[in-house]
Amino acid sequence: ATLIREIFKDTASYENQQIKVQGWIRTVRASKAFGFIELNDGSFFKNVQVVFEENLSNFKEISKLSISTAITVVGELVITPNSKQPFEIKAVEINVDALADLDYPLQKKRHSFEFLREIAHLRPRSNTFSAVFRVRSIAAYAVHRFFQEKGFVYVHTPIITTSDCEGAGEMFRVSTLDFHNMPLNEEKNIDFTKDFFGKETSLTVSGQLNVEAYAMAFRNVYTFGPTFRAENSNTARHAAEFWMIEPEISFADLQDDMELAEEMLKYIINYVLENAPDEIEFFNNFVDKGLKERLNLVVNSEFGKVTYTEAIDILKNSGEQFEYPVEWGSDLQTEHERYLTEKAFKKPLFVTDYPKDIKAFYMKLNDDNKTVAAMDLLVPGVGEIIGGSQREDRLDILEERMTAMGLSKEDYWWYLDLRKYGGVKHAGFGLGFERAIMYMTGITNIRDVISYPRTPKTAEF
Ligand code: 4AD
Ligand code: MG
Repeated sequence: ATLIREIFKDTASYENQQIKVQGWIRTVRASKAFGFIELNDGSFFKNVQVVFEENLSNFKEISKLSISTAITVVGELVITPNSKQPFEIKAVEINVDALADLDYPLQKKRHSFEFLREIAHLRPRSNTFSAVFRVRSIAAYAVHRFFQEKGFVYVHTPIITTSDCEGAGEMFRVSTLDFHNMPLNEEKNIDFTKDFFGKETSLTVSGQLNVEAYAMAFRNVYTFGPTFRAENSNTARHAAEFWMIEPEISFADLQDDMELAEEMLKYIINYVLENAPDEIEFFNNFVDKGLKERLNLVVNSEFGKVTYTEAIDILKNSGEQFEYPVEWGSDLQTEHERYLTEKAFKKPLFVTDYPKDIKAFYMKLNDDNKTVAAMDLLVPGVGEIIGGSQREDRLDILEERMTAMGLSKEDYWWYLDLRKYGGVKHAGFGLGFERAIMYMTGITNIRDVISYPRTPKTAEF
């Protein structure tokens, strides 16, 4: 069979040819003498229109087919310059491959995103989710292209780990112990020597610590894989299982890090605009009317830069009534981030040099002894999309910071080794892949850009 994507790519070469297409019915409309089928074969966002007439031996059967029935059509491709569809297929034969039951839940009407979440196994057959998940696939490819073209080495960092990179204690424990038959209140006395690995292990919250080691061997590296956080925040931007892109660059500082982040994000957006134009058009029409204009602006403008301290001043002088107080030393809340990127700067914005007490142990301490060489990239509509930093490359200061934060040097001995053996200055960041997809599609809930979302109290499918 010919793939629908091939036909759309080069329609002229199929003109008046007999072709075979296979796919799933999106709609059937039929009168006594003829009918139309909108067929989607998954290879392309758009459907092909199949026209069938009563000369088909199974005309009656075809007229009554249910949505999502799979069929094979043989017919002639006819260019139709005066209709909405650029071409149609005049069927000479239609065979049913697999019938769909009549209770198929995706009927031809707008379904709410909430309802579609409950049928996560069927929603990729809808227009919206067909567009979301093809964009996700194309964006993932763009990530690899970007880094591979620059000679970065892709490192597969482990999923099961003993370290808590972000130090936030949001780890999912991995264990072979029989917790069910353990007396209550015994959690603190669990004997992990009896566990599979002989020690306490968890699902990784970030591949950073592991990939840093590879940056000291390959100079420029990245990891791109699933990460897990047992955050109890039931928000539209947090998932318990999400994918992160984490490059790490050697002989590089925070400025280099931000340059890379900006170049990467623009590259991914450009690649998606070029390679998923129909999907982006769809989002622009049905999800977020300002999407295309915004994305074009982003790829053509320079991102803003502001220090955390300056940002606090801007917020204090904004005259806005925030729910959370604005105070030097506390983390920026979503409302603050949104004000900065949507109202104050109106474009993607790097906030740098955060107070050390609200950031992770590995970030390089600035000369003021109060802030660290950190950066977050905030974007309108989504908020924080990237978190990164220059890393502390001075062994003594790193050890001091770890002690102050209650981390044991024994547990992180290998990480400290990196500073002992030619540990040059280096930096990196993490891009939340789902947040990037939200940004590029206008979808506002993270649950709608993950095939099978994992959030508090939901792990269906
Ligand atoms: O800012 P974070 O916590 O940074 C790190 O994990 C660093 N180790 C990255 C690095 O320097 N290599 O997370 C990075 C990004 C966030 O900006 C956000 O986009 C995303 O990961 N993220 C989440 N996305 C979805 N659900 C969650 N629960 C997320 N937590 C973080
Ligand atoms: Mg962060």
